[in-house]
Amino acid sequence: MHLLDGHRNMKIWAIGGGKGGVGKSLVTANLSICLALMGYRVVAIDLDLGGANLHTTLGVPIPDKTLSDYLTKKAKTLDELLTQTPIENLSIISGAQDDIGIANLKQMQKHKILSKLTELEADYILLDLGAGTTYNTLDFFISADQGILVALPEPTSIENTYRFLKSVYHRKLAMAEDLLEIGPMIDQIMNAKISQNSTPADLVNKIIESNPQMGHKLQNEILKLNPKLIINQVRTQADIDIGFSMKIISKKYFGINLDYTGYLNYDATVWQSVKKRRPLLMEFPNSALVNNFDQIVHKLLNISR
Ligand SMILES: Nc1ncnc2c1ncn2[C@@H]1O[C@H](COP(=O)(O)OP(=O)(O)OP(=O)(O)O)[C@@H](O)[C@H]1O
Ligand SMILES: [Mg+2]
Repeated sequence: MHLLDGHRNMKIWAIGGGKGGVGKSLVTANLSICLALMGYRVVAIDLDLGGANLHTTLGVPIPDKTLSDYLTKKAKTLDELLTQTPIENLSIISGAQDDIGIANLKQMQKHKILSKLTELEADYILLDLGAGTTYNTLDFFISADQGILVALPEPTSIENTYRFLKSVYHRKLAMAEDLLEIGPMIDQIMNAKISQNSTPADLVNKIIESNPQMGHKLQNEILKLNPKLIINQVRTQADIDIGFSMKIISKKYFGINLDYTGYLNYDATVWQSVKKRRPLLMEFPNSALVNNFDQIVHKLLNISR
């Protein structure tokens, strides 16, 4: 068994996705609960600065101290921000309640949060990233051990997911210092409309041709991204299948291995538990969704082991 034995290294999972309201907080909260119930020490962190509501999904009132206090130095350590949830092993760090916004987080502050995360006493840290593709959101996503994307089976959400992936890809290329000289070429391809003729995957192939060493290094970086995909609110088999097509397209277009980790049924128990301000997993332990979460968490654990 993997429970409580031996030495465990902390893992950071970041939950994102281009669009608002797709279920990122629901996923963060319930994956956290699943892990905590398995005996792991979990800290869920609300990085949806400005729109923080993860605490509600976890059944905790607005915590006294939030990330704002850390950023304004009222709290000295992240430890001071921990609020225990009703679930054993699960604490939360709440996002800022003022309108700081993740986009406005300074580079230094972002690095500070990232480097201090690993000092928390936890086996898993889950980051609820909030919507959008600002650099800060992308950087948290890229820095995590596992990036998890949540999408709805709707054209707008699917497009947003590709846009998010494209931004992650672009950000990753921009961060590779050796590539500075071909920066303009990268920008040109990344800023072009998605087309069949010239894809980001082709770009990497071109770089491999002209500079094999640089090209392969880049290709490795991209392969390391390996994000996970969860399709939320599925109602039909066709909805479920969307995840498989997205996996194929991500590989073809970006050269990115997008793992389709699983889906979550559309389920009325979600809003019922939101209304009651009780975690779904505790309020409706026998719902179909709980089974979905169980499968997803096992898949994620197998991959990361
Ligand atoms: N599987 C589901 N079945 C039914 N309703 C759902 C499901 N997932 C999410 N919802 C509904 O969608 C709402 C938004 O979910 P959630 O707050 O988790 O999204 P979010 O991506 O975190 O949004 P934001 O970008 O605003 O932070 C929930 O309050 C819930 O009512
Ligand atoms: Mg949210």
